[in-house]
Amino acid sequence: MKNSLAIIIGFLIVGSLFVGWKISQDLGPAETATAPQPQTESASKEIEFNPPSMEDVPDGPLGESIKYGHELVMETNTVADEYVGNNLSCASCHANGGTVKEEAPMVGLSAVYPEYRPREGEVYTLEDRINGCMIRSMNGKMFPTDSKEMRAMIAYLQYMSEGVPAGADLPWRGPKEPKQYPVPSVEDGEKLYAQSCASCHAADGSGTGTNTGPAVWGENSFNDGAGMSRMTKMAGYVQKNMPKGQGGTLSDQQAIDLAAFILSHDRPEFEGHEGDWPKGGRPADIMDKEKREQVKNGTIDWEAILSVKN
Ligand code: HEC
Ligand code: HEC
Repeated sequence: MKNSLAIIIGFLIVGSLFVGWKISQDLGPAETATAPQPQTESASKEIEFNPPSMEDVPDGPLGESIKYGHELVMETNTVADEYVGNNLSCASCHANGGTVKEEAPMVGLSAVYPEYRPREGEVYTLEDRINGCMIRSMNGKMFPTDSKEMRAMIAYLQYMSEGVPAGADLPWRGPKEPKQYPVPSVEDGEKLYAQSCASCHAADGSGTGTNTGPAVWGENSFNDGAGMSRMTKMAGYVQKNMPKGQGGTLSDQQAIDLAAFILSHDRPEFEGHEGDWPKGGRPADIMDKEKREQVKNGTIDWEAILSVKN
């Protein structure tokens, strides 16, 4: 009798545990239905490129920081002069502060960082990534993470990510399949540059203004560790966006001719080349000093550079 009572109590305990478990199972999905859904492929198609207007920035300290961040991005070389080593602003490449879809957009980035970066072989935060452009594209110094400048840039980029769910797959971000470009002619690039580019970027490449025609080579341009120092990246950017206002008019051949011509000129040297791609996979189309020398003495093997899928 004692034993069967124990068995009944045992059943009751196990039974109530099961019911408890069952309820929590049933509640689980209902609860997550109200939480943000993980980004699925079909959901990411719905993300629209829709940067908010600077006119709608809220008042108050956060709004002030966002506006300062915008100023920094638009006029980096004057507003943050002590950090910048050339005549560029972020907007010299990230057109209109990263709000142009085809022109290195910076919309939604707060939703995708941190992320792993093969070039640095590390997980990068958004701060790291900004500083990556500071020491390469801006040929300058890093903003300290706790500086007023870095906080403002993060506030600005967060504002530009409004409404983009965390972890979203941004359809406008980077080319998915790198393009195979034909073998370039530096001479043809030179002629085309004089006709179609020199009016804004100057005949000697030094530019006519940070946001009217930035320096494309020489000491006031980006250094040779920058993304733009890669033949295929520059060709892709130029083909989509240049001449300014007439994007999409150049052929593959013209775009790569122009990239070869521009990138065969001297520019500041990046000092950290050896540290890049620590796990291998360094793209063959980086126009560093060695390659520039090869163009000068006629030994450059364009086919080898471009045959590797970069
Ligand atoms: C000389 C051109 C140039 C300048 C100037 C420049 N960038 Fe960039 N930036 C690029 C390119 C090109 C890429 C994309 C690189 C790639 O495709 O891997 C990029 C990428 C980025 C990214 C990552 C974008 C992404 O989708 O992950 C951030 C953030 C960024 N830049 C911030 C800045 C900031 C802030 C400044 C100014 C301090 C700046 N950049 C100046 C060319 C430039
Ligand atoms: C009407 C003026 C204008 C013309 C013409 C023009 N650009 Fe630009 N370019 C700009 C501006 C302005 C920017 C800054 C980004 C933006 O606002 O689009 C820029 C940015 C660039 C950049 C990235 C920034 C840098 O300093 O490297 C490259 C590369 C470039 N142009 C190449 C070219 C080439 C090649 C041509 C000729 C096919 C050309 N551009 C014609 C105005 C012009």
